[in-house]
Amino acid sequence: MKQIKKITCIGAGYVGGPTMSVIAQKNPHIQVTVVDINQARIAAWNEEDLSKLPIYEKGLDAVVAEARGRNLFFDTDVDKAIEEADMIFISVNTPTKTYGKGKGQAADLKFIELCARQIAEVAKDDKIVVEKSTLPVRTAETLKSILDNTSSGVNFHVLSNPEFLAEGTAIADLHNPDRVLIGGENTEAINALVGIYASWVPNERILTTNLWSSELSKLVANAFLAQRVSSINAVSELCEATGANVDEVAKAVGMDSRIGPKFLKASVGFGGSCFQKDILNLVYIARSYNLHAVADYWEQVIIMNDHQKTRFAEKIIQTMYNTVNGKQIAFLGWAFKKDTNDTRESAAIYVADHLLDEEAQVVVYDPKVSAAQVYKDLDALGTRAPEANRRLVKVVDNAYEAMDGAHAIAVLTEWEAFKTYDWAQIKEGMKKPAFVFDGRKLLDRKQLEELGFKYYAIGE
Ligand code: NAD
Ligand code: UDX
Repeated sequence: MKQIKKITCIGAGYVGGPTMSVIAQKNPHIQVTVVDINQARIAAWNEEDLSKLPIYEKGLDAVVAEARGRNLFFDTDVDKAIEEADMIFISVNTPTKTYGKGKGQAADLKFIELCARQIAEVAKDDKIVVEKSTLPVRTAETLKSILDNTSSGVNFHVLSNPEFLAEGTAIADLHNPDRVLIGGENTEAINALVGIYASWVPNERILTTNLWSSELSKLVANAFLAQRVSSINAVSELCEATGANVDEVAKAVGMDSRIGPKFLKASVGFGGSCFQKDILNLVYIARSYNLHAVADYWEQVIIMNDHQKTRFAEKIIQTMYNTVNGKQIAFLGWAFKKDTNDTRESAAIYVADHLLDEEAQVVVYDPKVSAAQVYKDLDALGTRAPEANRRLVKVVDNAYEAMDGAHAIAVLTEWEAFKTYDWAQIKEGMKKPAFVFDGRKLLDRKQLEELGFKYYAIGE
C-alpha cells in the first residue's frame, strides 16, 4: 500500500476545514495542509484566538488546538502544497450555475477545473486526487482527462470521497460517521485512502464502490433527506387544513421502523448550501439523459420547499390583517439551522424578502450571524436597492431589543436559547395583539397562549 505522508486539501471552507482538521487529529504521522485562495479565510484559520476561526462548529476549536502547528497547517501557497502532497483533496465550492447552459440548475464546475489544471501544471510526481466536493456523476472522468492531458508524465488516480457531515454537528459527524464512502478504480489508491480513515472509523463503516456510484450516492443521499423534509412540510399544510397536528403525525408515521423518526420535523423550509443545489443538479443530470419523469419527480421537492417559505410569509401577512406595512416583525434566527453561523439558502432570507416587499420593518436577531451577513444575503437577491434593505431591516445583537415594540415575532431558526426567554416580559413590550409565528415549532404553545400571545405554528 502506498504510504501517504503528506496530504493537501484545496478549499478551506465548511467542509475542507473541519474534515482536514479531524484527519490531521487522527493521523498525527501525516502532514495535512489546507490551502485556499481566500487570504482572509486562511488568516482566520490561523487565528491564535480560537473563537475567531472562520467557521463556528461545536468542538472544532479543540480539534484545531490539538493538531494545528503539529501536523495541520493552513496556507495560501497552493502550488507548494500541491507539489509536496502524495494525496490532494479538492474541496472547493460547486455552486449552482448562474449563467449560460444549465443556469439555475447545473453545478458550476469552473473551480474544480481550475484546481485540476493547477494540479496538473504543478505536479512533478504521482498523485492521488480525491473529490471531496459534491459533484455531478461522471465528473471524475472530466478530472482525469484534464489531469492526463495537461500534465507531463505524471500518473494520477482519481477517487471520489463525498462528505456527509451536516453543519452544526460537523465534528461529531466526522468523529463518528454513519459511513465513509470511497469510489475508485485503482485498488492501491483506494486502500491508501481507506488507511487514513481506518485510523478512527471501523472497517465495516468504510464503504468502497465504483466511481460513479460514489459520486451519485452523494446527490441521492441529499435528495432523500430533503425529500423527507418536503414530504412532512406538505403534510403540515394538510394538518393545518384538517385539524391534525404534524408532530403527532410525524411521530405516528416515524415509529414504523421502515420509515424511522429522523428528518420528519416540519419547518419553514429547508435551507443550507447543499440540499437545493444538489437536487437541482440531480434534476439537471436526469434531464440531460432525457429522463424527464425522474427530473420532474425530484424537482417537486424544491417546488414544495419554495411553497413552504412563501406560505409562511403569507400566513404572517394574512393573520396581521392583510398588511404588514410599517409593522415591526422580529426575526428570531437567520442561520439555516441552529448551531451554525451559515446562512446560505436560509429560509429566513426568503421570508424576509417577501415581507419587505410589503414594506414590513424587519428586526433580526441571531446569536451567530452578523449584520453584515444579513445585508449581504438580502442584497444578493437583487430584489431591491441595498439602501432599501438598510432602511427596512435592522440587525441587533440582543433578542429582547428585536422584540421590544414589535407587532409580531417570527421564529426562523431553532436555537435552543429562544425557548428560555422571559416570554411574559417580552409580551409586555410588544404591540397587541402580540403575534408569534413559529416556523420551527420550537416554543411552547400552552405557555404562550396562557400569556396571551396569538400563537401560530407550522402544521397545527
Ligand atoms: P465553501 O465555499 O465554504 O469553501 C470552498 C472554498 O474553496 C472557499 O474558501 C474558496 O475560496 C476555495 N476555493 C475555490 N476555488 C479555489 C481554488 N482554485 N484554489 C484554492 N481555493 C479555492 O464550500 P463548502 O461548504 O466547504 O463546500 C465545498 C464542497 O463540499 C461543495 O461541493 C459542497 O457541495 C460540498 N459539501 C458541503 C457540505 C456543507 O455542509 N457545507 C457538506 C457536504 C458536502
Ligand atoms: C445536509 C446533509 O444532512 C448532509 O449529510 C450533507 O453533507 C450536507 O447537507 P446540512 O445542510 O448541513 O446537511 O444540514 P441538515 O441538518 O441536513 O439540514 C438541512 C436543512 O433542513 C436545514 O434548514 C434544517 O433546518 C432542515 N430540516 C432538517 C428540517 O426542516 N426538518 C428536518 O427534519 C431536518
